[in-house]
Amino acid sequence: MSSAERAEVVPARVFGEVAEVYDANRPGYADELVAEVLDYARLGGSSAVEFGAGTGKASTLFAARGVPLVCVEPDARMAEVLRRNTEGYGQVRVEVGGFEEWQPGGRSFGLLYAATAWHWFDPDRRWELVHERLRPGGAVALFWNPHGVLDEELFRRLGEIDRRHGVAGSPHGQLAHWYDGAPGTGSAADAENWPAAEAGRDGRFTDLRSHRFRRQVHYDTERYLGFLSSISTYRVLAPEAREAVMAETARLLDARGGGIDLLHVSDLFLARRR
Ligand SMILES: C[S@@+](CC[C@H](N)C(=O)[O-])C[C@H]1O[C@@H](n2cnc3c(N)ncnc32)[C@H](O)[C@@H]1O
Repeated sequence: MSSAERAEVVPARVFGEVAEVYDANRPGYADELVAEVLDYARLGGSSAVEFGAGTGKASTLFAARGVPLVCVEPDARMAEVLRRNTEGYGQVRVEVGGFEEWQPGGRSFGLLYAATAWHWFDPDRRWELVHERLRPGGAVALFWNPHGVLDEELFRRLGEIDRRHGVAGSPHGQLAHWYDGAPGTGSAADAENWPAAEAGRDGRFTDLRSHRFRRQVHYDTERYLGFLSSISTYRVLAPEAREAVMAETARLLDARGGGIDLLHVSDLFLARRR
């Protein structure tokens, strides 16, 4: 693919070309986050629906707790891995579709959630569609897992590599201590995009809550490169630029002992349909 063709790539659709790499290297979500969501949703026996389920990083955590689950994912290649990852759980159904077009077919849900996917959904319609698909009192849970680097010198030098190759928004683009504050903060963009404001303006949701969970993770160089190559900001680069940034990143990490320590943050937003 030439650079010109690459410029046409739709960021939301780049994940399928690396579905297996994505599955092998992307982190999952904190157990406490899943417990918090289920405690809030009080599902009883009712079902949950997940949009932008990817390969099932969050789906498997909910399915393992016995939640009857419909997982919706638009990319057929991601959905294939999702099927494989969830086939051991009896109560999981995988449906290929986008958040905006998907039809509930008469079903309504006690919980609707999206893991690192809400930002891809149409901002003009997403609350309307959430409202339609939840039963009254049903819960919505939106979560992301941003990252911060612990070592400031490494942060600075990785940033130089990214800038030279036009990469913005990498997992090492933030420092761990930037996440000392409230959920949804860590960078100006995160604060602007935190869903509490939108949900509040919508007015049909109540009991808005935000939580932040933290854990520290070490990636060796190989796994970290796999992680980077599953991220849209690297996928949209021309292949030669991507290879160059990966090679320089690997050299730097290896020269500094191999790998990188990251703070993984799981930020969770909860709201309830009135
Ligand atoms: C960063 S991945 C997150 C996948 C998974 N939830 C996870 O936590 O690993 C974003 C996912 O959203 C999906 N996606 C993008 N646009 C979408 C849309 N409009 N409706 C539903 N899913 C969408 C992508 O195909 C991709 O699987």
